Amino acid sequence: MNYKNITVAGSGVLGSQIAFQTAYKGFDVSVYDINDEAIEKAKERITKLKQRYQEDLSASQEDVDAAFNRMSFHSDLAKAVAHADLVIEAVPEVIQIKTDFYKQLGSVAPEHTVFATNSSTLLPSQFAEATGRPEKFLALHFANEIWINNTAEVMKHPGTDETVFQDVLDFAEAIEMVALPLHKEQPGYILNSLLVPFLEAAQMLLVKEVADPETIDKTWMVGTGSPKGPFAILDVVGIKTAYNISKAKADATGSQEYAKLAQLLKEEYLDKGKLGVETGEGFFKYPSE
Ligand SMILES: NC(=O)c1ccc[n+]([C@@H]2O[C@H](COP(=O)([O-])OP(=O)(O)OC[C@H]3O[C@@H](n4cnc5c(N)ncnc54)[C@H](O)[C@@H]3O)[C@@H](O)[C@H]2O)c1
Repeated sequence: MNYKNITVAGSGVLGSQIAFQTAYKGFDVSVYDINDEAIEKAKERITKLKQRYQEDLSASQEDVDAAFNRMSFHSDLAKAVAHADLVIEAVPEVIQIKTDFYKQLGSVAPEHTVFATNSSTLLPSQFAEATGRPEKFLALHFANEIWINNTAEVMKHPGTDETVFQDVLDFAEAIEMVALPLHKEQPGYILNSLLVPFLEAAQMLLVKEVADPETIDKTWMVGTGSPKGPFAILDVVGIKTAYNISKAKADATGSQEYAKLAQLLKEEYLDKGKLGVETGEGFFKYPSE
């Protein structure tokens, strides 16, 4: 892997984190977003990230300032990618936006540039053709708060070149992620393929009134030695997200169980302002009991 210049496209929640982590680890990073207003927001986000790195990682002022100085900001895509070895795409999770973005990117990026999508729910094969370079395209998926939750799931689509796959795994390690190779396309990658059914199983035990959240979490923690149970994880994810998922499933399938779960989450938690860790209370109270 001889990447030096990295472009991050889309500088929202995840894009700004990916850009800052990459610059923090010594790469030159060019940040692209659609207009100057979005770029200003990115700079604000990154200023906040500098503080988090100092609080959470004991990073020095010098180190976070040096990282910021390795970053450049652009609202012109051709300029943003002119020297890019790798473009990491973190634009909104909307098929049309991503497809249009890849068509434009494919026409302005240098021939050698590798493209990676951070999409959580869409598969790289959906965009491989639009990139114009399917062999140099794959998924590189980070988790929110990447400086702490440092997984990088690197996933091929059927047309990805093996060398590109290895290079992106090496890059992920170079920015201090735990690089996790996925050799085949898998919706939800590894983490959500495990986590989503696990969290659903826990919520179904609650809906069926088998046990309360505390007992369910205690069973999991004592029985497996895990530091957190499913309801503590749901409090971190946010109960609004859990509600949206169960409501969508209920609407799509007509399932009574999911409808009951959505109703329970709404009436017992959301309507009472209990959204999870972010509001100080969800299934449990925070700071934790
Ligand atoms: N938020 C998360 O926890 C999380 C975790 C892992 C992966 N992701 C993935 O990362 C991607 C971005 O998610 P996010 O939460 O950072 O979204 P976000 O809405 O916070 O940020 C999206 C950014 O893209 C910009 N944008 C909009 N249209 C654009 C375009 N045409 N070209 C370039 N930039 C454009 C927006 O101005 C914004 O800055 C999604 O694919 C999502 O699935 C998100």
